[in-house]
Amino acid sequence: MISLKPYNTFRLDHYCEELHFIHSERNILDLIPFVSAPLVIGGGSNILLTKDHTAPVLINEVKGKEIVGHDDESVIVKLGGGENWHDAVLWAVENDLGGIENLSLIPGKCGAAPIQNIGAYGVEIKDVFERLDAIDLDTGSKCYFNNSECQFGYRNSVFKNAQKGRYFILHIYLRLTLPQHHSLNLEYGKVAEIIGAKKITSPTISDVSEAIIEIRQTKLPDPDLIPNCGSFFKNPIIPQKQYERLKTKHAGIPSYNYAEGWEKIPAGWLIEQCGWKGKIKNGVGCHKDHALVICNYEAQYGRQIERYYKDIINSVSKVYGVVLEPEVNIL
Ligand code: EPU
Repeated sequence: MISLKPYNTFRLDHYCEELHFIHSERNILDLIPFVSAPLVIGGGSNILLTKDHTAPVLINEVKGKEIVGHDDESVIVKLGGGENWHDAVLWAVENDLGGIENLSLIPGKCGAAPIQNIGAYGVEIKDVFERLDAIDLDTGSKCYFNNSECQFGYRNSVFKNAQKGRYFILHIYLRLTLPQHHSLNLEYGKVAEIIGAKKITSPTISDVSEAIIEIRQTKLPDPDLIPNCGSFFKNPIIPQKQYERLKTKHAGIPSYNYAEGWEKIPAGWLIEQCGWKGKIKNGVGCHKDHALVICNYEAQYGRQIERYYKDIINSVSKVYGVVLEPEVNIL
């Protein structure tokens, strides 16, 4: 048995019987006849392992960062599914290619980015996503998905629903802007504030990336120091009417308009109000600075985190009648 502890950022000590590192398309094609229903892991930064796995585990190590097309305003970059996402962002910023600077310092690998449509500070990968190529793990055939075929939603895609577990993502292709054509997104939270405080009048994508790195480093615990998977729950999206009713009972409840007739409520706020921020039980706890991040202080097994998150769901549901849904994949 092989420990999966190095391959999940909750650092849980669950085991598998077989582990394979996939570096290329050839690697995966050669392996397919010998593995059935494998479990693919990217950076392991969005999974909660709750048991040992008998299925073979594949680690995506497909590398490569290159420009494969361009027009007057933009380029298409091709990124290996096993490339570290933040390294890819830094590479883009160094080459003055715009569009993903707001997604700086998100943990994980490029192949996992479209699965949950990663997003932060007003940008989601779907905004720059062109297509991906993948291997169908059932048939061994090569498949392509364009932006609309991925069916992106808030922290969601076809790969979390109908096509869950079916594909090994080889490469993703993003359309990034060339200098003179960047469109900075400074709307969200403290981004503009930090840039203003540095007296930068015409910010570059590099300034935006640095500001976001600063915000994330002050607010979110580093998984290398305190094992965690970033936001554990999605921010719930509820009908406007339900939100109005909640507001009459809980005057301070924050929200962002999500779409006509729908409000998005910060799960971190709900969890904090229910007294979970900084509360540690059996080695598991919500971080003291950000209640949405569940940290593993000294749990060995996923069941301990599972018990903790289910208690949070019950407690928030009792007080607010809102049922939180994990963003992290429970395996
Ligand atoms: N809040 C609290 N208490 C807390 C935490 C948050 O009251 O302990 C409230 C505050 O009102 C705050 C609001 O929640 O203003 C929103 O907090 P924040 O800006 O930190 O964003 P978030 O909604 O908690 C989302 C993403 C993050 C992303 C940030 C920034 C989800 C599930 N999470 O978090 O993504 O970095 O916005 O854009 O959508 C991730 O997916 O792992 C992740 C970290």
